[in-house]
Amino acid sequence: MSEFHPGLEGVPAKKSKISYLDGKQGILTYRGYPIVELAENSTFEETAYLLIDGELPSVGQLAKFDAQLRVHRRVKYNIRDIMKSLPVTGHPMEMLQTAVSSLGMFYPNDVPVQIRSPGDESERYVHGQSIRILARMATLVAMWQQMRIGNDPTPPRSDLSYAANFLYMFQNGVEPDPLVARIMDVCLILHAEHTLNASTFAAMVTGSTLAMPSYVIAAAIGTLAGPLHGGANEQVIQMLKEIGVPEQAPAWLDKKLAAKEVIWGMGHREYKVKDPRATLLQHLMRELAESRGSISPLFETALALEEACEAVLAPKGVYPNVDFYSGILYREIGIPPDQFTSIFAIARTAGWLAHWREQVSQNRIFRPTQIYTGHDPRKYVAIAAR
Ligand code: COA
Repeated sequence: MSEFHPGLEGVPAKKSKISYLDGKQGILTYRGYPIVELAENSTFEETAYLLIDGELPSVGQLAKFDAQLRVHRRVKYNIRDIMKSLPVTGHPMEMLQTAVSSLGMFYPNDVPVQIRSPGDESERYVHGQSIRILARMATLVAMWQQMRIGNDPTPPRSDLSYAANFLYMFQNGVEPDPLVARIMDVCLILHAEHTLNASTFAAMVTGSTLAMPSYVIAAAIGTLAGPLHGGANEQVIQMLKEIGVPEQAPAWLDKKLAAKEVIWGMGHREYKVKDPRATLLQHLMRELAESRGSISPLFETALALEEACEAVLAPKGVYPNVDFYSGILYREIGIPPDQFTSIFAIARTAGWLAHWREQVSQNRIFRPTQIYTGHDPRKYVAIAAR
């Protein structure tokens, strides 16, 4: 009998060249490049190219990729009509999955997605679709932000970077200042890929059936929406509000740990040191505070909580994860908490698309086995005799 691993924990489900994580040393690389170097030097557009195509682009390759991303920012009116008919009380992730699912119907294509050799028709199709989907993700999230409060969506601008245009559309035509645009850009880079997590696995499984890309990304969005995957940063904000002031952090922590409650934004299945993404986000938060000349009370409380956790949780290998500081940062730049996971989805689309391409380049449909624990064969009993 095969050994059973609940949640497939520790079971390799694919061979991949996309990202690498060393949780003991706190190292995350995309295609071999450390996340810290990408956050300092790259842009989301370049990082997406790296993830999807496998290498850093040349000047010309990046210019072409970026130009295509800008061209495909607009979505059809019919998609806007679908969004208009959705309840404004719905969660933005529900809207996003619905809108992304519908893309396949409006942009149909019958090219097979199984790539048999580099540069073949299918690879060109997969590449083209990746650009179209990635370009539209930010548009859909930003459109909904305006539509759900009764505004017409702001049309995209093609003279702005991916991150700046997203914020411009999201904030009803207000162009972000360069530091805020750069912060969003770095947040997108940091969330773009993270080895084989639940949503990436969902994308791979769907891709392995050779389903069209709208299905692949819609499956991943639905998986990311669960509270065990995306969404912990929303909880961090609630938690920091509950703590109230930095001085309360140690006593609040003692109380929660005594009640065996979880501290949001702390701990990670893979990282047993501080998540490198948390360190980068913390620096960005400080940079923002310095540029504004004031420090956010939530940030101060978070710093005090991290310090209090150091003594009790660090010995167990529990440190801040990416969600600990990302929510505070988003909140400071005007993103409402229920949109945090949608922004995660925009960024992670780059990783999902990279895994989709890798999957359909070496495809074998996922068909795991099971350990049957049900009845032995038995005779059907007529309903009157039960
Ligand atoms: N708050 C309090 N204690 C925590 C903790 C947290 N956030 N994370 C782990 N611990 C404790 C566990 O209770 C356990 O203590 P014990 O040995 O005394 O029983 C110990 O640390 C080891 O944790 P373990 O449960 O083995 O870690 P895990 O790998 O199974 O859990 C998470 C990983 C992410 C599920 C967990 O850390 C968590 O729930 N974090 C909060 C949610 C969150 O921020 N999620 C976003 C992840 S990116």
